[in-house]
This record gives sequence, C-alpha cells and structure tokens, in this order.
Amino acid sequence: MLAGKKILLIIGGGIAAYKVLDLIRRLRERGAVVTPVLTRAGAEFVTPLSVSALAGARVHEALFDLTAEAEMGHIQLSRSADLIVVAPATADLMAKAASGRAEDLASTLLLATDTPVLMAPAMNVRMWQHPAVQRNLALLRSDAVRFVGPNEGEMACGEVGPGRMAEPMEILAAIEAAFGMGPLAGRHVLVTSGPTHEPIDPVRYIANRSSGAQGAALAAALRDLGARVSFVTGPARVPPPEGVDVVRVETAQQMLAAVEAALPAEAAVFAAAVADWRVANAAGQKMKKDGSGHAPALEFAENPDILATVSRMAEGRPALVVGFAAETEKVVEHASAKRLRKGCDWIVANDVSPGTGIMGGTENAVVLISEQGAEHWPRMSKDVVARRLAGRIADQLTVDQSTGQPMISTA
Ligand code: CTP
Repeated sequence: MLAGKKILLIIGGGIAAYKVLDLIRRLRERGAVVTPVLTRAGAEFVTPLSVSALAGARVHEALFDLTAEAEMGHIQLSRSADLIVVAPATADLMAKAASGRAEDLASTLLLATDTPVLMAPAMNVRMWQHPAVQRNLALLRSDAVRFVGPNEGEMACGEVGPGRMAEPMEILAAIEAAFGMGPLAGRHVLVTSGPTHEPIDPVRYIANRSSGAQGAALAAALRDLGARVSFVTGPARVPPPEGVDVVRVETAQQMLAAVEAALPAEAAVFAAAVADWRVANAAGQKMKKDGSGHAPALEFAENPDILATVSRMAEGRPALVVGFAAETEKVVEHASAKRLRKGCDWIVANDVSPGTGIMGGTENAVVLISEQGAEHWPRMSKDVVARRLAGRIADQLTVDQSTGQPMISTA
C-alpha cells in the first residue's frame, strides 16, 4: 500500500523508541522506503545497528556528518522524503520544532523542509499536560503538523494518563491517512457533536453538559482512517479536531439544516446531545423583570429528531446510520428499543448513571447494539472507543458483510 513512499523517520529519546523498530518493519512490509534519523537521546534507547538492520538503510545521527554532506546534504535528506514521521516525539523535540530551532540533525531537518510532518508524542503524563507542551502542541498544529496519540494508560514510569505513544499499527494508519490511503479514503462521513443551545431571549439559553469529547474523538479517528469528515458541532467545550470540515451551529433546528446540507454521506454518526425541546415563546429582546414578582412562563416545542429524520430518509440515506444513547438503567433494553424507534442501524449505548464517572469523564464503557445483538466493550478511554468504532465503521463500509470480502469503493 505504501509502495515507494519515502519516509524520513526521526526517532527521539524515549522508552517508546523500542516500538519504532516494529513500526519500521511494518512500513517496509508495505513497501515504504525508510530513512532513519536517530537523535542522541534516541540512541540511548535503541541501537543504530538494530535500526539500520530493520530499515535496510544507514542511520543518520550527527548534523555535521561530512560524508553525508558530500553525498546528500541534510536539506536534501528532508526534502526528498514524502513524509517526515517523528516517533517518539519527545517534549524536547516538540519544543525545538515549535520554536524553529536547528541545533541538531533532527531539529534542522524539521526546519529545513516543507514536507508534511506527523508526530507521535510520548512522555510522562505531567509533562504532556504541562502548559508549555500544550502550547507547543497548539503551535505545531497551527503549522499543519499532524499528530497521532498520545494514548491514555499506564506508563513506563508507573503513572496513569495521556502520554503513551500510539501503537505501531495506529501510527501506520495515521501515515496511510496522511497519504490519503486509509480504508476510508474517498469516503464521506458526517459526525454531529456537542450540546445545542436553545435561546430563551437574545442573551439566555437552555443547554446541557455535553463536552463534545466523544464526537471530536470520533471525527479525528474517522479522519485518521482517511475519511473526509463533515463535523457539525454545537457549542462544545472540546475544540474540533484539525483536518475536518467544521460547521458550527447553536440550535437543534440549525443542526438539522446543517446535516441536511452536508449530505450525502456514506455514514453518519450522531454523537450530539441535542435538546429535545426549544423555547416556543423565545423573546426577540432581553426579557426584563417587571417588578410583579412573577417569573415569565416558558412554553416548549419539540425539536426535530435529527437522527430519526436521517434514518428515515426515503432518498439519499447514508448506508450506515449510527446513534448514541445515554441511559441510566436497563441500558441494553432501552437502547435496543431506541434503535428500532429511531430507525438507525447501530446504537452506541452507555450507562451514564452517577457513580460510573462517564459523564464528563475521559473514559467510557459502551455497548454496541446492532441487528446482530448487543456487544459489550470493556471500559476504555473515549479516544480508544472512538478508534474502535471508526474501525468498525470502516469494516462495515469496505467489507461485503455477506462474503467477508472487501468491496470495491463506489466513491
Ligand atoms: N438525537 C437527535 N436529535 C434529537 C434528539 C436526539 O439526533 N432531537 C440523537 C442523538 O444525537 C443520539 C440519539 O438521538 O444519537 C439518542 O439521543 P437521546 O437523547 O438518548 O434519545 P432521546 O430521543 O432523547 O430518547 P430518551 O429521551 O427516551 O432517552
């Protein structure tokens, strides 16, 4: 799949460097040409010999390497690549790249090129969460650097949280996506996310506590599999991912209109927490206290059910329609009934009863309900739920379910 693609692989100094050996092997299995660059710190974790043996190429280490300068200067080294991958991307490498420093071979290569860059960060949880690292991350993103991971989980240092480098297969998927080659390349997928705000008057509204985290993670995961993603989002706390087509809305009615405008799509995933009702007698001007002691009476009208509307479209219905269900009891029973009532293909149900810590948390425990029945997934981070669900969507769209064979893309 990656036949002939030239990848310049910068290996930073972190315990996760050992996983990069597996990544090199998998890249070469797919026909990629890997040129490895090992930082001084990287060489503390993996040896140049094992890297060059797996890559089938010499390892570049020092900036002032006269032989290499004569044969191929460092500028040429980075420009001849189709993609630069930095794995593990340490806090130090990210800082150098963000501030445009050129003090060793790795940072000079990153500065001397306009080749697309993909980074797979790996570091201690506290380091990852430090404002300096988050600032560098935002800067690099605004410079169009792509990221894969980090994942949540237990780290080599024993702490738990975000900071683990993405697994080699995930990095591989992100590399393929960077080349527009993922399993969903050429496919259009729609995702709704976040809460809606239903106005009471021009300054007040009714809302809910949805952060938009699961929808954003899902849009990123679908993008990483190569899909073109239309992301219709209410006013969420979590920002939309890079590299998706963002449509911002406030109300349920606006969300329905934006969804209809974004269709057709091959799959649509409705992760938004849409308000069931809007204020029917919303005021055109700010409501004033009239001194009578009486509060104004709000009247409500039912909002359109976006998921049900799209599920029941007579023409142009996406091949796969996925809804979410937040339940507090009888999760499978209620969510299964919701799937039939709304007419969607799958429902991703989760138990949001107090005590699970799921609402507003970083983890989720979901049940995937389809015509085939209920599939309980173990408790995992929302990012992992997103990647797993995106993988299932890709399988559904690209594999003929009756034969188990890949389908020819119609896109
Ligand atoms: N949904 C939607 N439009 C609405 C309400 C909900 O598209 N007006 C979608 C949500 O995005 C989600 C699914 O429907 O994918 C389920 O939402 P939920 O609020 O759990 O369902 P309700 O219809 O509100 O059912 P109930 O109140 O019985 O739980």
